[in-house]
Amino acid sequence: MTDIDFDRYDRIRPIRWTGDALELLDQRRLPFEVDYVRCISSDDVAEAIRSLTVRGAPAIGIAAAWGVVLASRVIEASGGGEAAVKLQPAIEALNAARPTAVNLAWALARMRAALVGAGPDWRAILEAQARAIADEDLAANRRMGALGAALIEPGSNVLTHCNTGSLATAGFGTALGVIRAGVAQGRIGQVYAGETRPWLQGARLTVWELEQDGIAPTLIADAAAAHLMRTGRVQWVIVGADRICANGDTANKIGTYQLAIAARHHGVGFMVAAPSSTVDMATADGDAIHIEERDPGELFGLGGVRTAATGVGAWNPVFDVTPHGLIDAIVTERGVVDRPDAAAMRLAFG
Ligand code: MRU
Repeated sequence: MTDIDFDRYDRIRPIRWTGDALELLDQRRLPFEVDYVRCISSDDVAEAIRSLTVRGAPAIGIAAAWGVVLASRVIEASGGGEAAVKLQPAIEALNAARPTAVNLAWALARMRAALVGAGPDWRAILEAQARAIADEDLAANRRMGALGAALIEPGSNVLTHCNTGSLATAGFGTALGVIRAGVAQGRIGQVYAGETRPWLQGARLTVWELEQDGIAPTLIADAAAAHLMRTGRVQWVIVGADRICANGDTANKIGTYQLAIAARHHGVGFMVAAPSSTVDMATADGDAIHIEERDPGELFGLGGVRTAATGVGAWNPVFDVTPHGLIDAIVTERGVVDRPDAAAMRLAFG
């Protein structure tokens, strides 16, 4: 297997810790403005998560971890136990910012657990934990990139959805990491990216991100996906995840479910790539996942220009659940779960 040149294939960092502030690449303004928003409080971070300044399951977990560090700057405590109690309101506010991606609750639980038993050096422990969450995410992505790419036959083309790249993680990306690795190894020819209405994570973010690497993606309208598969032009659909349940059911960006149905119909492989921090063995199946619904106003226009008639209603769920039976492989840094179901997930994740 060819080694992957991570300097070439991983140039963007959406989250920067400066020592006294958290800088977040403003994903509402990409691709035409590359601007960082400065957060100096946990409330700033919660608002950045809510407003999609920072987005993508792993990235919001990492940002929230740094949000706890910011919250710790304004409390006094002699030890970790006292700090945990005083930080609880900030942790709850961060946790409430978005409901579907389990990485948010996972990162906050890890920050809280780090405080248990900590002594006077609890601030340093908290900061080290936030840094570890980010570093481990980057390492996991690089590992799962190699594992996922190994499933792809040379000469394949792929379709991806939403943005699962460096922008959505500590770096390299999940599904986009697999795609980067696949391109680097010469396995993948053409990368198709669905535009991902209504927020256009594919059209605005994925296409821009791949171009930084010198990978020229082909953008398609979401509605073109089944036709693309029918023409035989793609062999794999590769997506990320916001929550993977104990039976393998997977929540991801709205539109993923219909891609999985179309892929199965056309004999196209369907791969989910996510770090193990996205696996939620405490949630039995997809029916139990809280699906975020956002402002219907996101559907009424594009780039600030109204496209729908005034006075109409709209429904805007921003995630959906793909049943495990439609998934060929779940790839995490711990390995590949083929044809996931409750038994295979238990074996892999206990
Ligand atoms: O609403 P978003 O942009 O946060 O949704 C992101 C997704 O659905 C991604 O596919 C998922 O978080 C995986 S990102 C590595």
